[in-house]
Amino acid sequence: MMTSSLQSWPEPIVRVQTLSESGVARIPERYVKPPSERPLPIPKFTPRGRDRTHDSTNIPVINLDSIMSSGDRSTLLLEHISYACREWGFFQVVNHGVSDELMGAAREAWREFFGLPVEAKQEYANNPSTYEGYGSRIGVEREATLDWCDYFFLHYSPRSVRNPSKWPALPLSCRELISEYGKELTELSKRLLSLISRSLGLEGDYLERAFGGREEFGACLRTNFYPKCPQPDLTLGLSAHSDPGFLTILLPDPHVSGLQVRHRDHWVTVKPIPNALIVNLADQMQHIQVVTNAIYRSVEHRVIVNSARERVSLAFFCNPKSDLLIQPAKELVTEDRPALYSPMTYEEYRTYIRTKGLRGKSQVESLVRLPTKN
Ligand code: OGA
Ligand code: NI
Repeated sequence: MMTSSLQSWPEPIVRVQTLSESGVARIPERYVKPPSERPLPIPKFTPRGRDRTHDSTNIPVINLDSIMSSGDRSTLLLEHISYACREWGFFQVVNHGVSDELMGAAREAWREFFGLPVEAKQEYANNPSTYEGYGSRIGVEREATLDWCDYFFLHYSPRSVRNPSKWPALPLSCRELISEYGKELTELSKRLLSLISRSLGLEGDYLERAFGGREEFGACLRTNFYPKCPQPDLTLGLSAHSDPGFLTILLPDPHVSGLQVRHRDHWVTVKPIPNALIVNLADQMQHIQVVTNAIYRSVEHRVIVNSARERVSLAFFCNPKSDLLIQPAKELVTEDRPALYSPMTYEEYRTYIRTKGLRGKSQVESLVRLPTKN
């Protein structure tokens, strides 16, 4: 059964923001995570023998202002990108070309949207057939543990699926800001994709072509709203997951941290630097690499919440063209270097997360082909 074709959620939807604003002192059982998933405070001193360096560290920062330059600086930039992708799969970019004003205005418009009365937002209530609109859960399994987050999800690209009439009509500037923001983020994602291709020793347009070509790749925006939480140690704003597309560009909340990245055995809390955007590699980037040891992998991350301040983030997801078969380039697969992942279209791939919800990296890992002995 294709549960993703469900037209409605299996259980009544509760808005986390409504719960939070009702002033409950305890969170409902549905939001309490099993102890192994709770965001235990990271110990200051890790046991002897473990790598201690990560607790105080931040993800790499890439300065894109050398993007146009040539020679040594451009080589250095590619080396930085290669390091950030191999070691972390997560980095912040500065001098990325998206204007500070636009980022600030887009974030404020979404803050205003979430500040509207619940009835106004309810007009955009989403369902699991497309996820488009105002939502409060990911996945359709009954009795699943829920995350402490509401969101608004919309399609930006390709144009054939863009439908601004489903975007918030209020605040008045919202639709225009989404269009403008989507345009700039699309440009940035193409520049990043080209740099990432080159950092793998591939032609600059290799990955862009592989994910569907200039006009065709998919882009969605999910604005996450994490309300204040009276018991932040028991729950998560977003459970551990990797993103299903190929690249995500996140505009974080400049005042409230919450995003944690899994690095080796640690959850590293990202400290956003002013006006930076946060980039992470997602599952299709891992899926598409042809050789047995995909060196760029998607990375697990999650969000913690707090009792003092709500948090808003804008996640711009870049996805392959939905009906394109993601598979290794034939010319690169040999007997010694077999394809590691099974081919699959992005549309098929996405069904998993939309059905089961966020489950670490279990999906991309389930694609790995077991070696066939002959
Ligand atoms: C996401 C995500 C992180 C954040 O939306 O997939 O990982 O900080 N968001 O909100
Ligand atoms: Ni994510």
